[in-house]
Amino acid sequence: MITPISVARALPAVLALLATKAIAYPHDRESVDARNSNELVQPVYQALPLGSVKPQGWLKDQFKKSASGLAGNLFNFYRYVKDSQWLGGNSEYSDLHESAGYWFNGLVPLTFGLDDSRLKGQVKFFLDYILAHQQGDGWIGPETMPQTRGLWGRCYIMLGLMQYAQADSSETERIVDAMHRYIELVHSMLQNNFTGLVPKPGDVFDGSGWGPARAHEMHIPLQWLYENYPKNNSDLIWETMDLMIQGSTVFGTDWRNFFVKGTFPEVVYAPRDQAYTWLFTHGVNLAEAIRFPLAIYRTSHDEALKTQTRTAVDLVSKHHKSLAGTIIGDELITDLNPSKGAELCTSAELMFSLSWVYQYLADNDIADWVELTAFNAFPGQIWPDWWSHQYVQQENQPWARNLTVYPEMWEDVSSYGNVFGLEPNYPCCTVNHPQGYSKFLANAFVTTEDGGIAHVFLSPGTVSTTLANNNKVTISTDTNYPFSMDVSYSISADDDFTFYVRIPTWAHPSSTATKASGDSAPISPTNAGLHRFDISKGHSKVSVTLQTEPRVVERANNTAAVYYGPLLYSLALEFNETTRDPVGYDGGSIDPSSTTAQTRDHIIETTDLWNVAIDPSQIKVVSSGIKELANPVWAFGAPPVELRVAATEIEWPIAWDSPADPPLSPQVKGKPFSARFVPFASAQVHMAHFPKVELEAVDLDQ
Ligand SMILES: *[C@@H]1O[C@H](CO)[C@@H](O)[C@H](O)[C@H]1NC(C)=O
Ligand SMILES: *[C@@H]1O[C@H](CO)[C@@H](O)[C@H](O)[C@H]1NC(C)=O
Ligand SMILES: *[C@@H]1O[C@H](CO)[C@@H](O)[C@H](O)[C@H]1NC(C)=O
Ligand SMILES: *[C@@H]1O[C@H](CO)[C@@H](O)[C@H](O)[C@H]1NC(C)=O
Ligand SMILES: *[C@@H]1O[C@H](CO)[C@@H](O)[C@H](O)[C@H]1NC(C)=O
Repeated sequence: MITPISVARALPAVLALLATKAIAYPHDRESVDARNSNELVQPVYQALPLGSVKPQGWLKDQFKKSASGLAGNLFNFYRYVKDSQWLGGNSEYSDLHESAGYWFNGLVPLTFGLDDSRLKGQVKFFLDYILAHQQGDGWIGPETMPQTRGLWGRCYIMLGLMQYAQADSSETERIVDAMHRYIELVHSMLQNNFTGLVPKPGDVFDGSGWGPARAHEMHIPLQWLYENYPKNNSDLIWETMDLMIQGSTVFGTDWRNFFVKGTFPEVVYAPRDQAYTWLFTHGVNLAEAIRFPLAIYRTSHDEALKTQTRTAVDLVSKHHKSLAGTIIGDELITDLNPSKGAELCTSAELMFSLSWVYQYLADNDIADWVELTAFNAFPGQIWPDWWSHQYVQQENQPWARNLTVYPEMWEDVSSYGNVFGLEPNYPCCTVNHPQGYSKFLANAFVTTEDGGIAHVFLSPGTVSTTLANNNKVTISTDTNYPFSMDVSYSISADDDFTFYVRIPTWAHPSSTATKASGDSAPISPTNAGLHRFDISKGHSKVSVTLQTEPRVVERANNTAAVYYGPLLYSLALEFNETTRDPVGYDGGSIDPSSTTAQTRDHIIETTDLWNVAIDPSQIKVVSSGIKELANPVWAFGAPPVELRVAATEIEWPIAWDSPADPPLSPQVKGKPFSARFVPFASAQVHMAHFPKVELEAVDLDQ
């Protein structure tokens, strides 16, 4: 993420900024009004305190794999965690000192989602250490000089602390105390010309401006503190939020100026006169920044910022969203080209951002997008045993190997970036990926404005919580979704309540809901896409059965991709595999003390024909009917649902040692055949974006 290239790229932006005056932002007046009200805008759907939702079924298996894989072992061996300056060591991959914070932010929800005592030991050790080493002036972290004290690396520490305080009430008080002492210091730093946020000459904490571009990252913990444990610091917390955004504006990274139609880059390859910094076109920044206007909306009550959040979602979706649900950017956004990459951090951050945005906007398509990322892009970038990951994923990727063309097609990713490894490129994804499924689960159930509960991301999980009037409710989900379309619930409640199940936008109206009485009827979702069940006290069972058909999504130049339910499908490509000792992110070797026997880099290449065009008018669903899912479920051949699609071999050139853009006039070779398609994330090498052709009828049973 920070390479010499990035820093060099940043400098002109910073210099340009110093030469221009701060950009005025248009909503000052509303902001003042809202400050007088001193209330935060409330979400439509409230997330539950961390730990309320536990994984079940295949998702629990994935949590366990993450815990027994990289995420749950980084603390024991990985130099940027174990030997981080945060724990008294000496290893940081950048001056941002962000790695331990990323790790903590992801490990806390993994730990309390799984309720795993070994992981509790890790996060508790870290918590004890950083609180014991909180400095006299309130600073959290190892830095002792103004020049080295950057706020950005602490945003994720704050997020981790917030989650910890929610999940473990025995730690809440001292965590909250520490946060207050820290925020008091931050407030005084920001008042002093944005010290620690906006880098000044001589500062070494942030060579590029990541902090100002991600200034809103502190808002979620600050807003939580403000609402739950304000102490006497309400005004100070509020001002700290304002100051963070002001600092971002002064630096020139106010996203309110960027998520504007006409300014936002729709076509990157033919750039307009770009009046903005590359920090705006950075894929991970963009994934985080979808929350930027909304974070301010909560304090300003300015409806324009809520509208702008929807605009931001739409602009990113229309112009930069991959078929698998992430943002294409390597690391800068690069249109919709299927051989361009998308960073693992991007899908992890995007799921979290969209989950949060969904809670305020309540637009059903946003929840669909979260599921799309969670069941396609994100797991597709992680090796089935959770010990290695890709830095970048391509939609069309018949091999994951050291690409042989130099310089690479990628803007700021090395030729090794699509290999599944320990740190195949920048180490941020190694430490940041644990938050992906952990926060997806934590946001899967929400409470509704009428005091009920909604299951909004349909994966298997159990929620236990107490509703109004001390109504203790437990809802357990039995489902193989997204590998099946049935979702069943066992519910126990002390009193009556309303339970909602989100119906994805792709579900057919003939989908059915079965009430506790056993009566089934077609679903009747609200405008927000929620199907309502009135649950009586005691034990009950309800279910939904979704109906859908394979969907063909058309893209430019007569190309298409195939979906069934929330899953994107890929041509099934067999592959061979070689493993090797992990390569360091700088291309060198890694000290063996910072690896384990399991941290192998996987170089994989398909041994199958990958260069095909498809006829999407001929698709058949093939289900094994097996009820017991394989574990790991995202391994090649493991999912029980596949498709057969009429296809034919074509001439497909190679560019940059990857499949070139889908050919415009595909030259057909050989005879049409029935091609096996499998869920994208289970195809470790994959092809998902094809030219369309019309083919004679093919026997899809073959
Ligand atoms: C505040 O910081 C800016 C750089 O962000 C610098 O140009 C300016 O001189 C500083 N002002 C003061 C009063 O230190
Ligand atoms: C808040 O301030 C009042 C008055 O200064 C003081 O008595 C009280 O202890 C403070 N409360 C907290 C929680 O710090
Ligand atoms: C990838 O290939 C380039 C060019 O041949 C080479 O410099 C680099 O060392 C290779 N990386 C690895 C990990 O093999
Ligand atoms: C469509 O094909 C043309 C010609 O190869 C290419 O310039 C253009 O970028 C393609 N459009 C998209 C959206 O891929
Ligand atoms: C893997 O398969 C590719 C394509 O068939 C082939 O070029 C390569 O040599 C094979 N590698 C190994 C290690 O078998």
